[in-house]
Amino acid sequence: MSEPKVMDQQVGRRRENWASQVGFVLAAAGSAIGLGNIWRFPYLTGTNGGAAFVLIYLAAIILIGYPIMITEMAIGRKSQRNAYGAFAALAPGTPWWLVGALGVLTGFVILSYYSVVGGWGVAYVFKTLLGMLPKGTDFAGAFVGHITATWEPIFWHAVFMGVTTAIIAAGVVKGIQRWSEILMPMLAVCLFILVIRSVTLPGAMAGLSFYLKPDFSTINAKTLLDAVSQAFFSLSLGMGCMITYGSYVSSKEDLTRSAAYVVSLDTAAAFVAGLAILPAVFALGFEPGAGAGLTFITLPAVFAEMPLGGFFGVVFFFLISIAALTSAISLLEVVVAWLVDEKGWNRQRAALLTGIGCFLFGLPTTLGYGVLSNITFLGMDLLDTYDWIANSIFLPLGGLLTAIFAGYVWGTRNVAEEANKGSTGMAVGEWWAFLIRFVVPIAIAIIMLSGIYQKIAG
Ligand code: PHE
Repeated sequence: MSEPKVMDQQVGRRRENWASQVGFVLAAAGSAIGLGNIWRFPYLTGTNGGAAFVLIYLAAIILIGYPIMITEMAIGRKSQRNAYGAFAALAPGTPWWLVGALGVLTGFVILSYYSVVGGWGVAYVFKTLLGMLPKGTDFAGAFVGHITATWEPIFWHAVFMGVTTAIIAAGVVKGIQRWSEILMPMLAVCLFILVIRSVTLPGAMAGLSFYLKPDFSTINAKTLLDAVSQAFFSLSLGMGCMITYGSYVSSKEDLTRSAAYVVSLDTAAAFVAGLAILPAVFALGFEPGAGAGLTFITLPAVFAEMPLGGFFGVVFFFLISIAALTSAISLLEVVVAWLVDEKGWNRQRAALLTGIGCFLFGLPTTLGYGVLSNITFLGMDLLDTYDWIANSIFLPLGGLLTAIFAGYVWGTRNVAEEANKGSTGMAVGEWWAFLIRFVVPIAIAIIMLSGIYQKIAG
């Protein structure tokens, strides 16, 4: 029923396509691999007791993340639309567009504080470069000093948001794809060098066993929700990002295989980042449960223990910033694609105004460690509050509704037909339909409700 509308639009305005399958995989992996892997995953593993969390996270990736990844990409490619337009086109005359709208809103909220953390990364490039981190051992103090200041974090937040906006204004292929292709491989090399240094530090064994030897006695509803929401966050799912990126894929490309590559690359990146950070946490005497500062406190300390540490520090924080950037542009793209497709704005205007909006909306989170530190919600500072609402509520809810949409509204047969177009052997079938119709929605619903309940009940 929706078919003619989609086709008309395609004839009227040709949609930009990724230049190749590799280009698409790298851009989608660029979206997936970011602060979620290098900043969020290690500290969540630290606060949730280590290896058991890692295993639950892996289960969430395989049973929930991968099936939804395929689903979102198929929805995007079939509809050739942004997150909002995709649902509107595939289920015209129903309220399902609300799921896309929730995605656009979520993208806006995440980007507003993602840019603040990205700004910490960029600030650390310069601080390492100019030798402004302490020569001694007070890396925690240095980090706290940085985030509790007023103007400096705002400045770097503005820089980060500005660069993100400029790239998105330049367009999909020229902007997103080119950057991803050059810089993501460099990040991989640097991570490996860091892992080697980290696991060979004296005392690293304790960290390795924390990371790899599961102790399930620490698992509770919060752990489960943290694992599921991290799976969504890290894979850029539940908010229409992969719908939007999928809409730039031609029907000749192999979607299921691309999805498998993206999921594997992202999971490998998170695992390796944990391996670079957690052994060092133990070896150098930091607290694994330190929370949001863990990466920024531990890594400078590791660099201080390395020959050429200053040089590596600069390169590594630069690459973290780039990884954050390729994710941030995908967040911004979700909002911009909606404004361009549905509201008829031109790309530049949409990027600029959204960029400014995100900057302003993110301001409270950057002040939440300093002048606004007395404002808390359920015991969380402002950045953690934004992060919790977006990741523990909006993303799982978006994923849950996407699964219901695919399983019962658009129908697993239709999704599979689209997903398998261009397939070279990894076609989705019964198992995928079973996960999407039953396992995914039931698991998310239970985990979300119990995790939220536990948080609120304290
Ligand atoms: N996946 C990104 C990361 O791990 C964050 C992100 C979330 C990007 C949602 C796009 C959409 O850093």
